[in-house]
Amino acid sequence: MAAPGHVESLHFFLFLLLLPSLFIAELSASNPQVEALLAFKASITDDPLGALSNWTSMLHHCNWTGVSCDPSSGAVVSISLTEMQLKGTLSPFLGNISTLEFIDFTSNKLWGSIPPQLGHCSNLSGLGLYDNHFSGHIPFELGNLKNLLLLDLRSNFFNGSIPESLCNCTAMQELGLDGNNLTGSIPSCIGDLVNLEVFQAYTNGLVGPFPPSFGKLQGLKILDLSNNMLSGIIPPEIGNLSHLSILQLFSNQFEGPIPRELGQCTNLTLLNIYSNRLTGSIPPELGMLIKLEALRLYGNNLSSTIPSSLSSCRSLVFLGLSENFLIGSIPAEFGSLTSLRFLTLHQNLLTGEIPVALMNLTNLSYLSLSLNSLSGSLPSNIGSLYKLEKLFIDTNQLVGSVPPSISNCTQLETASLTYNWFAGGIPSGLSRMQNLTYLSLGGTFFLGPYRKIYSTVASFRL
Ligand SMILES: *[C@@H]1O[C@H](CO)[C@@H](O)[C@H](O)[C@H]1NC(C)=O
Ligand SMILES: *[C@@H]1O[C@H](CO)[C@@H](O)[C@H](O)[C@H]1NC(C)=O
Ligand SMILES: *[C@@H]1O[C@H](CO)[C@@H](O)[C@H](O)[C@H]1NC(C)=O
Ligand SMILES: *[C@@H]1O[C@H](CO)[C@@H](O)[C@H](O)[C@H]1NC(C)=O
Ligand SMILES: *[C@@H]1O[C@H](CO)[C@@H](O)[C@H](O)[C@H]1NC(C)=O
Ligand SMILES: *[C@@H]1O[C@H](CO)[C@@H](O)[C@H](O)[C@H]1NC(C)=O
Ligand SMILES: *[C@@H]1O[C@H](CO)[C@@H](O)[C@H](O)[C@H]1NC(C)=O
Ligand SMILES: *[C@@H]1O[C@H](CO)[C@@H](O)[C@H](O)[C@H]1NC(C)=O
Ligand SMILES: *[C@@H]1O[C@H](CO)[C@@H](O)[C@H](O)[C@H]1NC(C)=O
Ligand SMILES: *[C@@H]1O[C@H](CO)[C@@H](O)[C@H](O)[C@H]1NC(C)=O
Ligand SMILES: *[C@@H]1O[C@H](CO)[C@@H](O)[C@H](O)[C@H]1NC(C)=O
Ligand SMILES: *[C@@H]1O[C@H](CO)[C@@H](O)[C@H](O)[C@H]1NC(C)=O
Repeated sequence: MAAPGHVESLHFFLFLLLLPSLFIAELSASNPQVEALLAFKASITDDPLGALSNWTSMLHHCNWTGVSCDPSSGAVVSISLTEMQLKGTLSPFLGNISTLEFIDFTSNKLWGSIPPQLGHCSNLSGLGLYDNHFSGHIPFELGNLKNLLLLDLRSNFFNGSIPESLCNCTAMQELGLDGNNLTGSIPSCIGDLVNLEVFQAYTNGLVGPFPPSFGKLQGLKILDLSNNMLSGIIPPEIGNLSHLSILQLFSNQFEGPIPRELGQCTNLTLLNIYSNRLTGSIPPELGMLIKLEALRLYGNNLSSTIPSSLSSCRSLVFLGLSENFLIGSIPAEFGSLTSLRFLTLHQNLLTGEIPVALMNLTNLSYLSLSLNSLSGSLPSNIGSLYKLEKLFIDTNQLVGSVPPSISNCTQLETASLTYNWFAGGIPSGLSRMQNLTYLSLGGTFFLGPYRKIYSTVASFRL
């Protein structure tokens, strides 16, 4: 019964004999690249999937899991070990593999800091450390990597500031820094990265201004600086970014006007600049953004009328203008935004009637008009909005009765109608609405110091 093992050993012996002598020589003599790989292996303290189990002298290092070599020179050019649950640190010896072009340790549990020695790998074009537990500063030595196309440091615990030296990595196309603990300001030289297409630095502790030099990054497609403490204005130079398709600056402290030049970024599909301190008007030029699918400007201090030009943004699915100081009436032209599923206009200073044209928005599932000064009655064909799940129209000056057609809105879960001048009680048919779990109808008209408070007084839980 011992025979199979015996035969395998023999095979293995033959295999050794057949190995080209070059490889044997390389393994026995000290090859700095092999040394560096073994130093890396030695700094890994936990390898539950055995990813590095064949990183042994039994196998040529170019055949080790995750290692690739240049076929002609035999030099190590890439190390890619993703989603391997590796724990441990990055050995500074990796910096000795100067021929490295690509390092990818995405989604492991590696910790510690980035060894500055990686700055020696001058041919490195990609460094992917996304989704690990790295900490410490981003070494300024990475600025030496003139060939770097991708630097992905997202979702780690990096702190300190973004080193200015990175502005020297002028080949860079994608820079991902989001989900760290970075502080300080965005280097004003960021505009030197003229090949940048993606820049994400959201959810950090960045402060200071939005560098106008961003306007030089004409190839930028995605810019996401949301969830920081950035301040100052959104510079008009943003209008230079004609390829921009995603711009997210929400949850910062930006002030001043929304630059009308944004209207030149006609490839925008996502424009989220909510929860800032923006003032002035909603530029009518935003109506030129006909590919826009989401426009969220809520939670600012905007004080203009709502430009009817926004009705040209026919692809809009999300339109959020709530929690501002917008005046005037809801443009009837919005009836053409038939892709809309979410429309929030609550907590503004809007007046006039709810346009009957809004009943054209048959894809709406969320409509909030609460906390304004809307008057007149609810359009009798409100039942056209048969996909409506949430309806908030409380705290206005609406009169008349709730139209019976509302019972056509069978998906309705929440209907907040309180604090209006409605008469006539609960419309018959509402009891047929199986999903309605919250209805508030009662209350008296009330406007004053409690404007911002949603009241559940006189509401029914069904
Ligand atoms: C090295 O080990 C991995 C498993 O961790 C295996 O998938 C791979 O085929 C091995 N490589 C060689 C050349 O034996
Ligand atoms: C890697 O392994 C393959 C077969 O598994 C072999 O053909 C090739 O020669 C090996 N490469 C090196 C550099 O040892
Ligand atoms: C390899 O890297 C280590 C750590 O950076 C360094 O101490 C050592 O001198 C290097 N060895 C060679 C041969 O470059
Ligand atoms: C970098 O790549 C170039 C071109 O492939 C090559 O000639 C050069 O030797 C490499 N440099 C290093 C340090 O490996
Ligand atoms: C960021 O740093 C603060 C204190 O410096 C710490 O409390 C917090 O947990 C850190 N957050 C992350 C994501 O590292
Ligand atoms: C960054 O984090 C390290 C620990 O990882 C800490 O020692 C250092 O003080 C922090 N630096 C800053 C600027 O927060
Ligand atoms: C960028 O590189 C140049 C030399 O190429 C150097 O003089 C300069 O100090 C570097 N800048 C930064 C910010 O590292
Ligand atoms: C960039 O934007 C600024 C401000 O809008 C403008 O003056 C400048 O001409 C623009 N540059 C280019 C190259 O479009
Ligand atoms: C606009 O975006 C689309 C897809 O996002 C892309 O295919 C197209 O090239 C972009 N156009 C410009 C001018 O950037
Ligand atoms: C209602 O939507 C249709 C397209 O579905 C559009 O042609 C029409 O102009 C819209 N009506 C109003 C009043 O906006
Ligand atoms: C009621 O809802 C249906 C879809 O369930 C819709 O086709 C119809 O136009 C609506 N009727 C009224 C009167 O709103
Ligand atoms: C109630 O909601 C569920 C899921 O949210 C949906 O599948 C169902 O069709 C709704 N019921 C009615 C009567 O519309």
